[in-house]
Amino acid sequence: MYDRLKALAEALNAQDIVTLFAQDEGRASAFSVRHDGMLLDYSKTRITDAVRAGLIDLAETRQVAARRDAMFAGQAINETEGRAVLHTALRNLEARPVLVEGRDVMPEVLETLARMERFAEDLRAGRIKGQGGAITDVVNIGIGGSHLGPDMATRALAPYHDGPRCHFVSNVDGADIHDVLSRLDPGRTLVIVASKTFTTIETMTNARTARDWMAGAVDAPAEQFVAVSSALDRTAEFGIAPERVFGFADWVGGRYSLWGPIGLPLMIAVGPADFRAFLSGGADMDAHFCKSPMSENMPVMLALTGVWHHQVCGYPTRAVLPYDQRLARLPAYLQQLEMESNGKRVTMAGDDLQGPCGPIVWGEPGTNGQHAFYQLIHQGTQVVPCEFMVAATGHEPELAHHHRLLVANCLAQSEALMVGRSLEQAREMIAAAGLTDDALERQARHRVFPGNRPSTTLIYDRLTPRRLGQIIALYEHRVFVEGVILGINSFDQWGVELGKVLAGELEPILTGEASAEEKDGSTRALVAFVRGCAEG
Ligand code: F6P
Repeated sequence: MYDRLKALAEALNAQDIVTLFAQDEGRASAFSVRHDGMLLDYSKTRITDAVRAGLIDLAETRQVAARRDAMFAGQAINETEGRAVLHTALRNLEARPVLVEGRDVMPEVLETLARMERFAEDLRAGRIKGQGGAITDVVNIGIGGSHLGPDMATRALAPYHDGPRCHFVSNVDGADIHDVLSRLDPGRTLVIVASKTFTTIETMTNARTARDWMAGAVDAPAEQFVAVSSALDRTAEFGIAPERVFGFADWVGGRYSLWGPIGLPLMIAVGPADFRAFLSGGADMDAHFCKSPMSENMPVMLALTGVWHHQVCGYPTRAVLPYDQRLARLPAYLQQLEMESNGKRVTMAGDDLQGPCGPIVWGEPGTNGQHAFYQLIHQGTQVVPCEFMVAATGHEPELAHHHRLLVANCLAQSEALMVGRSLEQAREMIAAAGLTDDALERQARHRVFPGNRPSTTLIYDRLTPRRLGQIIALYEHRVFVEGVILGINSFDQWGVELGKVLAGELEPILTGEASAEEKDGSTRALVAFVRGCAEG
């Protein structure tokens, strides 16, 4: 499938990105996509006209446009689970009809959004109270898609917070919930239990712990609980009244669910108007994705750049490097989005995937990462395509000099990766510092940067709620396009099941209620160690 592109990659092996710029003055604009105040620059890669044409041809052959239209039309493209994939309906603020099995789902989507808004407003205005008075703190208990999105987005939009403080608990490690609850007043805290299935062991364990904590201090703990779930029978069983439950349909995948009730903490933090602005950003990116020709389509070109680097050039990982401290959780969010979606080895047709699945995604905000792992990115033996991301302006005018430094560092890194430093330049630099002969030669090779290392940069004016919505939807569609090209189902996640089953078996083994006999030697030894510690 990638033969033609691989041949092009081979032919470009000796090609410097710097030379591509020297040969084409217009390269920066020719190899970038602009949309609504955002610029995606992929010119600092070895993608040429021929490569881009080959990549677009691949996308056309794999019928990306037809699959995209099928998704937006509500067809059951999540074939292994027999479901439509319609998180886009949650941000369809214009209420264009979206049919699932012949029924328009928009009235229900908008009714739930309106209920969320009434609830958030009442909470923010102090009309919904705890036993001790107005709610000051909200604790969201959830994991995976019921945690990473709201946590990431709530941090990202900190400058817009004017509601109660939001806290996030996800890990079954008791330290997580302990450290959050121990700082809070139960009488003025609201707990949101967020779980699509309402069965996830981590979330249900944390929810029960929170309920006990609340019950120890207030008379009607259930009144200070809210559930966000698509399993309304289970939320009732847990004791949460139906009017305190915000439901969503099974056609919203967990890692795509931030746009609906799973986004409730974000709405509480920033208010319904800014939450709508966030949704409008997502909707704008949907329209761009549906209408723009491939070469001017930001999600498509971001996806094709990823395919070029991973499937064609063979670079095993991709670093996401937001130069924005408030996007500190974005790499973790994108890890789930990309690796849970495209980390598959079987195609839709049930065959073995030919070639690599989606890449390993990792990252940290800049500039922190520069003082940690960028060493390997610049001088290590593996090439790591980097995806930089930065806002031209920050939210703190009084700290504009900080932001200037932040942007300068971001631009400097992509420049350094591309340009590098030759042996000759290294020698000159060391000579200027006064070293000569052997001492100079011993140092010089260590100071060489190979350069020619690819990166993309997404730059935008400022991280507003709308901009964040555009960025998240951009990445969602990028993952979709990559999945279509691979021919896999990006919307199931069977790979998380086995560990869950085995953890269920191991818990009674750790307490001694069940025998470890059937387990392998390593697991038996680890169990024995744990039991030994427990017995002191
Ligand atoms: O274990 C993986 C997973 O199913 C994710 O796909 C999901 O986002 C997460 O667990 C949480 O699931 P739930 O919202 O049902 O608790």
